[in-house]
Amino acid sequence: MKRKLLGALLSVAMVASLLVGCGSDGGSTTTTADSATTETNDNADAATDTAADDSADTAADTEADTDAAADTAAAGGKIGISMPTQSLERWNRDGAYLDEQFKAAGFETILTYSDNKSEQQVNDIQNMLAEDVDLLIIAAIDGGALNTVLNEAAEADIPVISYDRLILNDAVSYYVSFDNYTVGQLQGQFIADTLDLENAGDKVYNMEITAGDPADNNAPYFYNGAVDALQQYIDAGTLNIVSGQTEFDAVATEQWNTDVALERAQNILSSYYADGTQLDVWLCSNDSTALGVSQAITSDYAGSNSVLITGQDGDEANLKNIVDGVQTMTVYKNVSNEAIVTLSLAQAMLAGSTIDASLIDSFGIDCAYDTESYETTEGHKCPSFLLVPNVITKDNLQELVDTGLYTMGDDGYLSAN
Ligand code: BGC
Repeated sequence: MKRKLLGALLSVAMVASLLVGCGSDGGSTTTTADSATTETNDNADAATDTAADDSADTAADTEADTDAAADTAAAGGKIGISMPTQSLERWNRDGAYLDEQFKAAGFETILTYSDNKSEQQVNDIQNMLAEDVDLLIIAAIDGGALNTVLNEAAEADIPVISYDRLILNDAVSYYVSFDNYTVGQLQGQFIADTLDLENAGDKVYNMEITAGDPADNNAPYFYNGAVDALQQYIDAGTLNIVSGQTEFDAVATEQWNTDVALERAQNILSSYYADGTQLDVWLCSNDSTALGVSQAITSDYAGSNSVLITGQDGDEANLKNIVDGVQTMTVYKNVSNEAIVTLSLAQAMLAGSTIDASLIDSFGIDCAYDTESYETTEGHKCPSFLLVPNVITKDNLQELVDTGLYTMGDDGYLSAN
């Protein structure tokens, strides 16, 4: 099914390359490591790895490339794909899917991961501009740090798709993501439903909150979606945030870092729960933070009840925790579909096609075309394609297997394919 779709998209890509005249006679270039190791496939039959950065390893290898996709590499143009880091699991998947799908559709790609360092991401994007990319796909580490390089892209007339995280700069033409507010709402609503807060009467549940990186434009959306769904129960005292740390800034986690989340959770547990106070819920915005929180609960929580912990992404370690009852749910976002939507959009942009909701018919993925919710600067709406997230618990893990992107082992644990 996917192959069929890619086949259809390939022909669109070829038309696009004719229209924009940006094909190249070289091979494909892929930069795939945080250390910026660049791999060049020349004429699709051999590749030599060269270190783009002096400090990077200089190991060279060759590879026979018989992939049919490589034969058509560069037919559609050159795409710069800038991902934030390989240290957070999902971006490895995003990078791989984007790279794979763009190549299969006949594009040359430059893929970089910037080790969660904004200056490195600026350099990586500048290098892409120097390499004459035709379009940039960027998942920002810190959108605010990319203003200068995005202005450079605009001056060079290179269109930008803000991928997953919106960059607040008008050089961004389109935004592809999931409905981020809904992600948070699903987490909040899950808590309300699971604890039946509506019928809680005088019962009080103790809760703590861990949110995401303040530099990530998504993080407040997740937080607001969840807190809005729970606000009435917080106001009524049914949910009691024992630490008193409720505001986004107080609960945010730099770089979504697991160890940062772990340390804050340990501090909260020792300051507020060491006396035997029961902790019932820990609202976590995503899986990397949920991992730190659940480690802290396992090692430092005095109580013996199981704590309801939310998450987002479907990272392998968290799915294992869900099977083991350590984490309760995750909001799953199919990033392979996010890559397919991005590919279709990029092809339409390069072909100069009209872009509106009808584009969704071409990829057949549950997705909204939203021209109202996001702005790159005040009053400047950013047309967005927002995919639909869904809740995964112990009871519907099979849905992940059914995507074809995960395999369930004999032990019942899932691994990403
Ligand atoms: C993404 C989440 C992810 C987080 C940390 C956010 O921008 O939307 O899926 O968990 O970054 O990587």
